[in-house]
Amino acid sequence: MPSSSPILATRGLGLDIGGASIVADVSLELPQGEFLGIIGPNGAGKTSLFNLLSGLLRPTHGVVELNGRDVTRESPYRRAQSGLGRTFQISSVFPLLSVLENARLAAEARLGGSMRVWRRAGRRRDAVERARWALGRVGLETHARGFAGALAHGDKRKLELAMLLASDPQVILLDEPMAGLGAEDVPELVEVIRSVHRQEGRTVLMVEHHIEVVTGLAERIAVMHHGRLLAVDTPERVMANETVQEAYVGEAL
Ligand SMILES: Nc1ncnc2c1ncn2[C@@H]1O[C@H](COP(=O)(O)OP(=O)(O)OP(=O)(O)O)[C@@H](O)[C@H]1O
Ligand SMILES: [Mg+2]
Repeated sequence: MPSSSPILATRGLGLDIGGASIVADVSLELPQGEFLGIIGPNGAGKTSLFNLLSGLLRPTHGVVELNGRDVTRESPYRRAQSGLGRTFQISSVFPLLSVLENARLAAEARLGGSMRVWRRAGRRRDAVERARWALGRVGLETHARGFAGALAHGDKRKLELAMLLASDPQVILLDEPMAGLGAEDVPELVEVIRSVHRQEGRTVLMVEHHIEVVTGLAERIAVMHHGRLLAVDTPERVMANETVQEAYVGEAL
């Protein structure tokens, strides 16, 4: 696969629900390793777009391609197996399992595969190792044995990111990873996300309302408004774009 072909692409992607256009005519191409920020007012369709990309929702129009392959009709599971990982806007850990178990399950889901008993033990060891690595990545190793449900909110968000990393995705969709975090927790999580992109070379799409976080991380920013892409450009040009500024009149970025 030549590195110039996009790792993720959409063409004319759209979602109509009950006559309402939730996502409309979204065409995007992400080169391998890019960091794309996605901003837009509440209800603009950002989470819906992620649901279309990850397969949680089927589009009514258009195509999603992963690594040049049409995955529009594929399940979220299949897409995850192909290297697409996501976090949710609302916290989604298993509260009654330990922090390590949560990360291990995520790692196993990706390692997937063989049901043979003699393979399973090795796979479990690999998964635990990968889970520990991922917890270390987000600074949660000392919480590994505690219940996930007992974590502070900010630590739950870190665990979600660890679960995602444990599954070793090529493309990461982050839906408001800073939501509900105290201001003191934001810089640490920003640095984790930055290194996941810069050092590990993963492709990242991130929806985030903290505009200074998005502009500090993203190479390009896509602006959504009423389900459509208003602009896709460098942070500087997007912020200077008059159409973007008009879309935000009276609304908080
Ligand atoms: N299953 C659904 N059925 C009907 N309408 C929906 C459904 N899911 C989302 N919507 C509507 O689609 C629009 C886009 O919602 P979405 O959650 O994608 O926006 P968002 O940009 O993620 O907003 P926020 O910034 O608040 O998270 C909203 O008007 C929402 O009410
Ligand atoms: Mg949303």
